[in-house]
Amino acid sequence: MLHSLTQLSSLLSDLPKGQLFVLTDSHTKVHCLPLFAESIGNFSYHLLTLEAGEMTKNLTSVLLVWDFLLKHRATREAVLVNLGGGMITDLGGFAAATYMRGIRFVNIPTTLLAMVDASSGGKTGVDYQGIKNVIGTFTPPVATLIHPDFLCTLPAAEILSGFAEMLKHALIASPKEWIKLLQLAQEELPQEQFVEVLSSTGALQASIQIKDNVVSQDPREAGMRKILNFGHTVGHAIESTMLHHAAPHHTHHGYCVLWGMVAEVYLSVVHTGCPREVLQQLTQIMLQWYGRPQCDCKHREQLIQRMYQDKKNNANQTPNFTLLRDVGEPIINQHLTEEDINEALEYLFSL
Ligand SMILES: NC(=O)c1ccc[n+]([C@@H]2O[C@H](COP(=O)([O-])OP(=O)(O)OC[C@H]3O[C@@H](n4cnc5c(N)ncnc54)[C@H](O)[C@@H]3O)[C@@H](O)[C@H]2O)c1
Ligand SMILES: [Zn+2]
Repeated sequence: MLHSLTQLSSLLSDLPKGQLFVLTDSHTKVHCLPLFAESIGNFSYHLLTLEAGEMTKNLTSVLLVWDFLLKHRATREAVLVNLGGGMITDLGGFAAATYMRGIRFVNIPTTLLAMVDASSGGKTGVDYQGIKNVIGTFTPPVATLIHPDFLCTLPAAEILSGFAEMLKHALIASPKEWIKLLQLAQEELPQEQFVEVLSSTGALQASIQIKDNVVSQDPREAGMRKILNFGHTVGHAIESTMLHHAAPHHTHHGYCVLWGMVAEVYLSVVHTGCPREVLQQLTQIMLQWYGRPQCDCKHREQLIQRMYQDKKNNANQTPNFTLLRDVGEPIINQHLTEEDINEALEYLFSL
């Protein structure tokens, strides 16, 4: 369920004293905690702050959260508030889902990616042995509170990373939202105004709603939830290849998804009849905002190999794509040849 931050006090009204716990990372403690504290008035809480960054999303941090809950005598009535990006909502959700067989948790996402993607849908978890999200549960938060003003302090690259997932939601579900986002992308607004428009035009809420609709029809990813993987077969391959050598610095997930979507819209044009105009529109957004991927033709072999190893594949281990017939018309479980994939990568690297 979605609420704004102002509804927090009413959510906490029946909570026993000393049973409110708040998890932040080192950045959200500075940028987001003051507003949170203001919104709960006199209600007291216990605070735990973890180091910001994906490196923190591990079992050692989960132990810190469990120790913190035990130390302050958290009971089964306790509520854990996860105030942060997807790293905090995934990790805090997992710690809460497993403490005393599960206590309630509230997500307050503070990045665009967490607002439109990570904080809803019920997936919690941590990375283990270098594998992302390999340990986790499906446990929904009791509420997700959306407060767009948090986005004003977010670095621009994090905004673009979340915006890529918004573009994905529009492409798989809504021609109307797609047009809206295309217009927004052309405007080159300063960040505060951009955030304001995301919220005032309903684009942010619409994107959250698209994910919620998909997840509520397929909570445990049995079939139709796979449409959310659009852009991610190629995107994940780019992300892990860049992580392993090409990139001199960390590349945000949403950038890789955007590049992945360009390749997968290309495949959709060739194989499932998606209008070429969609490819041109997405390519334009890529060149204007995201730039070219920092891997190129010489990584093609490796990219394809990673797609074959992807955990989304079925038993016969051929890469599994979600493609588009058009904007708002996704088709899951598309299997393509190595030659087809090669051609799409060639298009991406030729830009
Ligand atoms: N559960 C799901 O369904 C799901 C879906 C997508 C992604 N994820 C997970 O989400 C994580 C990525 O999320 P993310 O992109 O939000 O990363 P993140 O949580 O690491 O946040 C990115 C950076 O922004 C900082 N930050 C957060 N809010 C801020 C604010 N308001 N102002 C200034 N700085 C702020 C953080 O401290 C961090 O440095 C990954 O671990 C991914 O696996 C989960
Ligand atoms: Zn994603």
